[in-house]
Amino acid sequence: MKKALLSIWRTLSRPAVHISLGVLCLGGFVAGIIFWGGFNTALEATNTEEFCISCHNTPENDLVYTELQQTVHWSNHSGVRATCPDCHVPHNWTDKIARKVQASKEVFAWFMGSIDTVEKFEARRLVLAQHEWERFSANGSLECKNCHNYASMNWDEMSNAARVQMEPAAAKDQSCIDCHKGIAHALPQGMDSSGGMIGELVQQSHGTSYQDGGEYYSVRHLEMFEDGDLTIDAGLLTPASKVMVVAENDDAIQVVISGWRKTKGFGRVINEDFGMNIATASLTKEAAANPEIVEAFEKQEDDLTGLGWERITATVWMRKDSFLSSPDALWSKAGEAYVTNCSLCHTQPAPAHFSANAWPGMFDGMLSFVNLDSDSEALVLKYLQKHSSTFSDHH
Ligand code: HEC
Ligand code: HEC
Ligand code: HEC
Ligand code: HEC
Ligand code: HEC
Repeated sequence: MKKALLSIWRTLSRPAVHISLGVLCLGGFVAGIIFWGGFNTALEATNTEEFCISCHNTPENDLVYTELQQTVHWSNHSGVRATCPDCHVPHNWTDKIARKVQASKEVFAWFMGSIDTVEKFEARRLVLAQHEWERFSANGSLECKNCHNYASMNWDEMSNAARVQMEPAAAKDQSCIDCHKGIAHALPQGMDSSGGMIGELVQQSHGTSYQDGGEYYSVRHLEMFEDGDLTIDAGLLTPASKVMVVAENDDAIQVVISGWRKTKGFGRVINEDFGMNIATASLTKEAAANPEIVEAFEKQEDDLTGLGWERITATVWMRKDSFLSSPDALWSKAGEAYVTNCSLCHTQPAPAHFSANAWPGMFDGMLSFVNLDSDSEALVLKYLQKHSSTFSDHH
């Protein structure tokens, strides 16, 4: 019976099927067995990973299955593997039927090809993930609790970070998915409204006109060069960094970047201000040591760390591209991206809740939870640092 059903599904799930009379008949045949004959047997056959992956692991879209295989739920030291139905099909009988009826919508969607390529799936992933999040939150993450039990958790053996969050959660019997999203598959790219953010800002930057003495702000990571022909690499400018134009040719501008660097090491990283880890640019080793590029001024010691710093300017060449004459648009886009990406699991802390130097550590710890590209990451981090307690009036 299981084999027969599977082979029917395989036939139905071949790419590029058109709904023909034959397929409709087959559908009727399957419905016939389910509602008339071997109800139980049919239900069992659909409750296997094999069945799920007949649709969810195709050459055109193998994402969820492949992603699962990289997680602890696929391979761990206790040898217990969670399969698709373990997490997605409730053990409770009536809920199971409800899920199956809902799944008949999936069969319909399958014929419509709603997720039959990686592109279509990624475009739809946020909607699908939200269905699951709602389901888990309605049943208190019942499927997780079939294997994991708050009452059997040994708090002493847990990491600090886990205990601090999980002990109060256990007291409230809180739904696991409130905090553990994206444990089995990659999080939806749609969660990340930044996909378009940098693109939009670059678009906007096409309207920028460059003038001698003018100040400009970078929209994303931008290449710096030692020469006006843009042939000798001098490093990268980070997003939302300020430069001043001092000369130009047809395609390029010569800019001065002001900041501070540590006196220890090669001095490649330029920070925005004394003692502050707000990255402005990173120079190549050669550029950092080139007196025609870097000019050093006063030195100062940071009492907090004992490290020496020096004020510098770096004079480099860059493409006339991807700068805005005001940082306002950068901050408003980054602010939106911060809210969409970082309010999913907890209310996002106000930027002024932490200092400019505390934010990088906080932010890095959260990056595995979000899908931000490196330009957006750096822009959102700088937004948080520039709106941190270090700069706010209430400090
Ligand atoms: C006939 C093909 C097919 C089979 C078999 C199938 N699915 Fe689906 N599944 C789909 C399609 C198509 C969608 C997308 C529905 C949409 O676009 O609204 C989907 C969506 C989902 C979702 C997203 C949540 C939702 O309700 O929208 C989950 C979770 C899921 N399937 C899990 C499973 C599991 C677990 C199994 C095995 C018990 C399974 N699927 C078997 C085709 C199938
Ligand atoms: C079939 C049983 C099973 C189900 C269902 C299950 N888990 Fe697990 N889970 C495990 C096992 C086994 C481990 C690995 C334990 C170990 O380290 O040996 C694990 C590990 C974890 C971890 C630790 C991750 C890490 O990186 O160390 C988390 C968090 C977790 N599960 C959450 C969940 C959540 C949330 C759900 C529901 C969506 C869930 N689990 C469903 C069996 C299950
Ligand atoms: C209030 C938020 C929250 C809730 C609710 C929650 N967890 Fe956690 N859990 C955490 C945090 C935070 C960690 C630590 C994550 C880390 O270290 O990366 C964690 C860690 C874990 C670990 C690994 C523990 C270790 O240190 O070895 C497991 C397993 C786990 N959670 C399972 C669950 C399950 C199952 C549920 C639901 C029954 C659940 N959690 C509910 C926040 C939560
Ligand atoms: C350990 C539990 C677990 C296992 C095992 C698991 N999933 Fe999921 N799945 C989830 C959770 C939780 C979500 C909700 C989205 C999220 O947080 O990533 C989800 C979401 C989905 C979605 C919606 C799209 C998306 O990526 O969010 C599909 C489709 C899906 N799962 C299919 C499957 C299939 C097919 C299998 C087996 C190959 C499977 N899942 C195994 C927990 C699991
Ligand atoms: C998938 C869920 C999830 C997402 C998304 C998420 N966080 Fe968190 N965050 C947590 C959990 C769980 C904790 C507590 C455990 C820990 O510290 O590891 C936490 C803790 C924090 C803390 C520490 C709070 C404190 O007072 O010590 C900060 C700050 C933070 N998150 C910021 C962010 C930022 C910024 C983002 C967006 C880039 C983000 N979070 C996205 C789950 C998430």
